[in-house]
Amino acid sequence: MSLSPKPGVMEIDAYVPGRSEAPGAGRVYKLSSNESPFGPSPKAIAAYEAAEPALGLYPEGSARILRNAIAAHYGLAPDRIVCGNGSDEILTLLANSYVRPRDEVLFSAHSFSLYKIVTLANSGVPVEVRTSDLHLSIDDVIARVGPKTRLVYLATPNNPTAGYVSVSEMRRLHGALPQTALLVIDAAYSEYVRRNDYEAGIELVSTSNNVVMTRTFSKAYGLAGIRVGWAYCPKNVADVLNRVRAPFNVNISAQRAAVAALEDASFTDNVIRHNETWRAWLTDEIRGLGLRVDDSVANFILIHFPDSPSQRSADADRFLMTQGVILRGCASYDLPQCLRLTVGSEEANRAAVAALRKFMGEQ
Ligand SMILES: Cc1ncc(COP(=O)(O)O)c(C=O)c1O
Repeated sequence: MSLSPKPGVMEIDAYVPGRSEAPGAGRVYKLSSNESPFGPSPKAIAAYEAAEPALGLYPEGSARILRNAIAAHYGLAPDRIVCGNGSDEILTLLANSYVRPRDEVLFSAHSFSLYKIVTLANSGVPVEVRTSDLHLSIDDVIARVGPKTRLVYLATPNNPTAGYVSVSEMRRLHGALPQTALLVIDAAYSEYVRRNDYEAGIELVSTSNNVVMTRTFSKAYGLAGIRVGWAYCPKNVADVLNRVRAPFNVNISAQRAAVAALEDASFTDNVIRHNETWRAWLTDEIRGLGLRVDDSVANFILIHFPDSPSQRSADADRFLMTQGVILRGCASYDLPQCLRLTVGSEEANRAAVAALRKFMGEQ
């Protein structure tokens, strides 16, 4: 017998990150990874730098200062918060903890690819729920729930389609799950949403034993490089995550920078206001070029290209790269006709639209 990994592992298509280089182009605008054009708050940078004397010591392992800051900010109990090396880590640990071989894990088609990766890595069965014109119907999710369902990952807003699930639909889905299944609400982009019928999941987690909400400092807080995420959990799930996580999974600089980022509310408000203004502008301008752009509540938009020679998304992508504009190809999300564009700085947004206009004008 030779060495082989667990069943499912070799079926994994490794995660494809957004590209960051446009060889040959002068000025480069990276709009491929949903990062913040502002980066972190200056206060978070100062806190990061101030951590220097502590670099030789292990950090406090439970990220207590950060859990306390998050708890105070949102009015939550700190012992129900678990921090991670990005929310990726928490989404992974949940699968590692709960998914047994042949258990089913439900998630939407055209959603964050990590869900499938962590399911297969645990020899689980991915169940992708089809969408209708990129809209996920909760009835269709409920129809796929069965005795083998162990986890349901739901990104709201969803990456890359940029839509969301309303709080009443989320409650309805939860009501249809058996107590043996865990609903994971991945709210990585929730800070950007301004809709009356949206709630990131706090209420549902507070009132049930089988719902977890995951959040991140990578997007609105501009700390993607330092890797900090967190989960708000029922006590039983927090206990499980604290058993399986690495002992010092959030480094000291990350803990301190995230606390400072959370405290700098006016900086974050500005990031969100900028996003709203420019998301609307990008959507209008690109629709004005004759391309389909879906309504977005997040910090990115999804652009559809026609299936005609030299107008396809791959043609646009190639052309945009020559202009230094890097978008995200969506083939790995099973949307090969689309490119995803992150809302960037004013300069980057204008450069993206100018490049797209040139591309469309050349058809
Ligand atoms: C829907 C969704 N969830 C989670 C993440 C992971 O974010 P992080 O691990 O940086 O917290 C991403 C990152 O792109 C995402 O798009």
